Order: sequence, then structure tokens, then C-alpha cells
Amino acid sequence: MNEYPAAREAPDLVPARYADWREEGPATRVKLPDGRPAWLVTRYDDVRNVLRNATLSSDTSAPACPRFGSAVEVPPLNTTLIALDGPAHTRLRRMLGPEFSIASVARLTPVVDRIVEESLDRLTAGRHTADAPADLVEGFALPVASRLICHILGLTYEAHATFERSTHVLSAGTSTAQQKLDAGATIVGLVTELVAQRLREPTDADLTGRLTGRYVATGELTEQEAVHNLTLLLGAGHHTSANMTSLSALSFMLHPSLARRFRDEPEVRPNLVEELLRHHTIVQLGLSRVAGTDIALGDTVIREGEGIVLSLQGANGDPRHFTGPGTLDPDRAEARYHLAFGFGPHTCIGQNVARVTIRSALSGLVQRLPGMRLAVPLEQLSFNDALDFHGLRRLPVHW
Ligand code: HEM
Repeated sequence: MNEYPAAREAPDLVPARYADWREEGPATRVKLPDGRPAWLVTRYDDVRNVLRNATLSSDTSAPACPRFGSAVEVPPLNTTLIALDGPAHTRLRRMLGPEFSIASVARLTPVVDRIVEESLDRLTAGRHTADAPADLVEGFALPVASRLICHILGLTYEAHATFERSTHVLSAGTSTAQQKLDAGATIVGLVTELVAQRLREPTDADLTGRLTGRYVATGELTEQEAVHNLTLLLGAGHHTSANMTSLSALSFMLHPSLARRFRDEPEVRPNLVEELLRHHTIVQLGLSRVAGTDIALGDTVIREGEGIVLSLQGANGDPRHFTGPGTLDPDRAEARYHLAFGFGPHTCIGQNVARVTIRSALSGLVQRLPGMRLAVPLEQLSFNDALDFHGLRRLPVHW
């Protein structure tokens, strides 16, 4: 049987197997790392259609739910909104959704721009030499994303090393179960303290304050539910944007004409950000679901109760939907229809925050470091291959 996930031939290329799977049929039987079977769906239209099926379950504790050792399979994240279905999911989404509306994110934009400027000030003030180049991951992409999620939640930035390390352990396929439980407990500890503090001293100044004031204090949400879902936001809200920022910066160095257009043509920026999201599709293992009813895809029927992996990389590289999908095309008309943020009821709640962050970070880089170039050969870059999220471990640069 086909083994899933497939290995990348090169770190910056989507595994070539996806093209075969897309051609073989709408759904392919695959064997997961734990030896269990699942259906893999790789075509754009099928992935979208299945994700909008209202009977689909995201319950990662269900025996048939496909497992890769992802963060959302272990406590406490396996009890948060990302792993809940139906009304239980809608209830939490209703409480958190307004925090991520277009209007809320527009209010956040000047904060993002300030964080980017200050992070670039720190980066450029550092002492970098030919032998000791700057690392754009630790020195820029990660601090921007972490400072922003701290601002959103009301957490002090001093906690960043702790939650960055814990999130890394939680989302690494190579961590042991015990390491993941310990990392989960550490990050929950940080958020528990924050929630308790907001309950003692109510404030509307940050998301944690608003959530506790409006829902925990009124008994609509338990303190534990608040802690666990805020932990999800803390984890999902920094690694993701940071990975996209550093991968996009790498794309700019490999294709300098893209960086020039991003710098000189501000009107191209929104579409190019969408195209970068499509191209990199950092949720590299895809989304795990269990069929709540029989689902017919062409001649194939996925039976109720069977596990399904919806491949976002397969969908975003589908030539039926994206012409010449391997090319990073800033003018691609259909770029914004990518599925990098998922689709359907669980579509990424933080996607507008992510867009603003990536756009602001890349704008800052191309304007302030127009001569930025790779400090090591491409083959020497190290990627987070065993993680839920595709990304770079380090990105050594000169400017
Ligand atoms: C480039 C950045 C990002 C990417 C590619 C991304 C991708 C995704 C994807 C694919 C999902 C769907 C999961 C599913 O259907 O099972 C998702 C859900 C989610 N994301 Fe993101 N994300 C990003 C940034 C963020 C940020 C910045 C935050 C928070 C500030 C965030 C918070 C969440 C949460 C809470 C969910 C669960 C939503 C639900 O289940 O209703 N994400 N994300």
C-alpha cells in the first residue's frame, strides 16, 4: 500500500508522489506511520467538497482519525475547538471569531507594522560577520510572530522561549508521547497563570481579558476551556506565520525579481502573499477527518467511520485548478482560492492576522534590506521536515 506522508525530493519541493496520486483517482488508500489505513484525497475540487461536508468529524481521539503525531492529537489541544464538531465547535468559534474579524485585524495592523520595524532595528543592530551571518528565523521571523501573539493574548514576551520550545516539541513527529505531554503542561502552565490574573484583574485590553470577562466570569465558558483554547491560539499563532515569513524570504532570495516587485509595486503585495501561501502550503501533512456518512468521489465511496486525509499540498498543486502550479506567479489570478488555510467550518480563524503579519514582515525586509542574500548554499539549509508545519530551522543571511 502507498505510504503516507511521502518524502520531499528536495526541501523546497512538494513530494512528486502527489502528482501520481492526483492522477490515480479521487481517493487513494494509504498506510499511515502507525500502520493504519486511511483515504488520501489530493484533488482541489474533492478536498474542498469533502471539507464542506457537514457530517465530517475532526475528533482526533476517534480511533479511525488519521494520526501523524500532530500537536492536535495530544492533550490539551485534542480538546480544543480544532478537534470539536458541530455545536460544540460553533459555540467556541462564536466566542473567538469576532477577535479575528477583518475590523479587529485592521485595528491590529499598526501594531504589526511597529513590531516589524522594531524587530528589524534589533536585527540590523546585531553584530554579523561573514563567518557569523544573521539568522532570519531566530532574529526576525520568530520574534515578529511571537511578539504579536503575545500582544494579542496579553502575555509578556519574556515567556517566548518557553512557548516556542514547547510548541516545537508538540508539533514534531519525532517527539515522544511523554515529551509532548510535558511540553503541553508547560505551555498550559503559562496560560493558566495569565487567565487567573485576568480573572483577578478584569480588563478589556487583550483577548484573554475579553474572553475571561465576557464568558468565564459569566459561567458560559469554564476556566479550563479558556486555558486550553488560548493555548491553541498561542501555539497556532506564532510558528505558522514565522514559518511562512522565513520561507517567503527564501523565495525572494531565490527569485530576486519577486522581491523587487514586492518592494516597488505595493498593489502586487496582497496577491503575492496569497501565492506564497499556496506555493509553500506549510500545513504539510494535510487535515485529518473521519467520514460521518458515506462520501462518493467519482466511483470511489469512502464509508461512514473511515479516516480521511485531505491533502492541502495536493490541492494547492493541482494543475486542474492552478495553471503551472510549480511556478511562483505573483500575477496568478486564482491565487487567493488556495486552501493553505483549510476550508469549511474549521478554516483558519487567524488567517487575517497571518496575512497582515506576512505582508508587513516581507515589506519591511524588502524595503530595509534590499540586498539580502543567502549566506550558505541552498543545499545546506535545514528544514523542519518532521513537523506538522513545513519551515526552516535557520535562515542564514547577509545584506
Ligand atoms: C500562515 C499561517 C497559518 C496557516 C497556514 C494556518 C493554517 C491553518 C489550517 C490549515 C487550519 C485548519 C485546520 C483544520 O481544518 O483542521 C487552521 C486552523 C486554525 N488556525 Fe491557523 N494557520 C495560520 C496562522 C494562524 C494564526 C496566526 C492563528 C492565531 C492567531 C491561527 C489559529 C488557528 C486556529 C485556532 C485554528 C482552528 C480553527 C477551528 O478549528 O475552527 N492560525 N489554520
